[in-house]
Amino acid sequence: MGDKVFYVTTPIYYPSDKLHIGHALTTTMADTLARYKRLRGYDVYFLTGSDEHGQKIQRKAREAGMPPKKYVDGIVATFQELWRRLNISYNDFIRTTEPRHKRVVQYLLQKIYDQGDIYKSTYEGWYCTPCETFWTERQLVDGNCPDCGRPVELVKEESYFFRMSKYADRLLKYIKEHPEFIQPASRRNEMISFIESGLEDLCISRTTFDWGIPVPMDPRHVIYVWFDALTNYISALGYGTEDDHLFHKYWPAAVHLVGKDIVRFHTVIWPIILMAAGIEPPRQVFGHGWLLVDGGKMSKSKGNVVDPMVLIDRYGADAIRYFLLREMPYGADGYYSEEALINRINTDLANDFGNLLSRTTAMIEKFNGGIIESPAASEPLDDDLIATARLVPDEVDAALNNFEFARALTAIWRLVNRANKYIEETAPWALAKDPLKRPRLNTVLYNLAEAIRQATVMVGPFMPGVPPRVWEQLGLVDLPAAHTWESLAVWGGIPAGIRVKRGPALFPRIEIKKEEGEETMTEQEKGAATSPAVNETQEAAAGDEEITIEEFARIKLRVAEVLAAEKVANADKLLKLEVKVGNERRTIVAGIARYYRPEELVGKKVVIVANLKPAKLRGILSQGMVLAAVDDEGLSLITPEREIKDGTPVR
Ligand code: MSP
Repeated sequence: MGDKVFYVTTPIYYPSDKLHIGHALTTTMADTLARYKRLRGYDVYFLTGSDEHGQKIQRKAREAGMPPKKYVDGIVATFQELWRRLNISYNDFIRTTEPRHKRVVQYLLQKIYDQGDIYKSTYEGWYCTPCETFWTERQLVDGNCPDCGRPVELVKEESYFFRMSKYADRLLKYIKEHPEFIQPASRRNEMISFIESGLEDLCISRTTFDWGIPVPMDPRHVIYVWFDALTNYISALGYGTEDDHLFHKYWPAAVHLVGKDIVRFHTVIWPIILMAAGIEPPRQVFGHGWLLVDGGKMSKSKGNVVDPMVLIDRYGADAIRYFLLREMPYGADGYYSEEALINRINTDLANDFGNLLSRTTAMIEKFNGGIIESPAASEPLDDDLIATARLVPDEVDAALNNFEFARALTAIWRLVNRANKYIEETAPWALAKDPLKRPRLNTVLYNLAEAIRQATVMVGPFMPGVPPRVWEQLGLVDLPAAHTWESLAVWGGIPAGIRVKRGPALFPRIEIKKEEGEETMTEQEKGAATSPAVNETQEAAAGDEEITIEEFARIKLRVAEVLAAEKVANADKLLKLEVKVGNERRTIVAGIARYYRPEELVGKKVVIVANLKPAKLRGILSQGMVLAAVDDEGLSLITPEREIKDGTPVR
């Protein structure tokens, strides 16, 4: 059963300060993988922890006027509290100050020393304390650390060195023969050129401070903090101790998840340490991009550090997790802003997912007395919904195995949105009026509940707080068989006769405070052509109510010509259009990016609602709405049937 185990790790964070939202990203990714693999029946071991030694921490503690251990104890407690609040399901939290870790680090170093790969010499060169990294003169950029750009310090001291150079060719061969080892491929290429440019032996001990693990054969030295830290991945498994069963069971790690800045330590130094000790390297190292904020990297001096705890208090852990996983492009940098976070909450979570659940449970309560009845024979619309659902689990699996979290979520949302569209197409409120259409109504309501069930199973690893709340509302709490991944293979995991219980909104919409002349984003998103976000009452009304010709006349429709079109940054649904309406030019933000490429639109004549109250969307003032028809195949803009001047009224 060797391939049914899955060992995943996060970096162990420095307790020099509280963690920020960027750190929460790596840990959320790791937790999602861990939960997903557990759902798939793997025996998972998920490790995180804290990297507590080194010069940086010693200085921080001194500045705070505290002994280092007391200083880190306080900060490590905040890490553990953050992970608890973020619903992180780690199996073990390793602290490098624990005796169980120190013992293994000393054992490993001694072992490599005994075989002759460690020698004593003098280190003379530069050191970046914030990065805890040695640099040669020629590696510096403008005299500063090439990684973080901060000043470096000149160091000259007696040190022990690790013969990394001896293993360079072996490592290079390994990396080339195992293309999956370093992900994404761009980082593999960087590492290959780094190694090809020549590996120097690594200084692995320091004597000018003492906050570290003593070198066993020469305790005047403390072990270099990266040698100490990397070893956590096997010390936590009891490597080299009397009880090493976890090591035998879980090593090699399936994946070390790390930020791009520390890929080098994990794919050069760490595998060479392991090679020297005769231990297999980890199977994969995935280096994700940075989460940036306005102004670039987060830093205390810029005052732009985002505290995840504050966001969890405000928006809940699931929403934060969703944002991080959905917003980071694969392997590249992503951006955080509170506005982008609120947009994701309002659009994907409240509007798409939450609304689907509340509309469905409301209709089942209203039309079927709260009971999910057996479906009747299916029709083509149902088959299409079911066919959409059938493809999603495999795509989620493929995406997660490749660390493409955003792609996995997009696939799940394809089902969610297909189900939303299915409501429009089948119009259950109309079926409910005709007693002869009862079997059809039952089918539609069943399929909606089943679509929600399937999406909920898949969403669980990303947002673990969601399934329990959905099961509550769908009446599936006591049906564990309906919560499994295997249950996705068949459409029909809900036994007929289940009673739903409509509950509070899964994700309440966040109202953004209004700026002058601005609607809330919420209303605007409802208004953007093509994103139907009407609620059930509105639907019912639309089915029944007649309007007078005077009422219709209040809506001013006009022909407009599209002069320019472009994507709206960080919004996959929106296009910004510049249109000409007679003598007037207007900007319109339209939710049509999934159906039209900007270049296809230029020169097209469309119909707009010209007297819609202007509203701001993603900071852009939208002056009107473009009309479109929506069907199974997507969306079609309404265009005049012959050439006609822009500005012409439409009646
Ligand atoms: N202690 C070392 C890791 C040792 S692992 C054996 C360390 N700690 S750290 O706390 O500075 O950073 C840990 C991780 O957080 C790194 O992978 C780093 O890339 C990541 N991040 C720190 N800021 C980040 C962002 N703004 N965005 C994404 N990840 C970021 O390095």
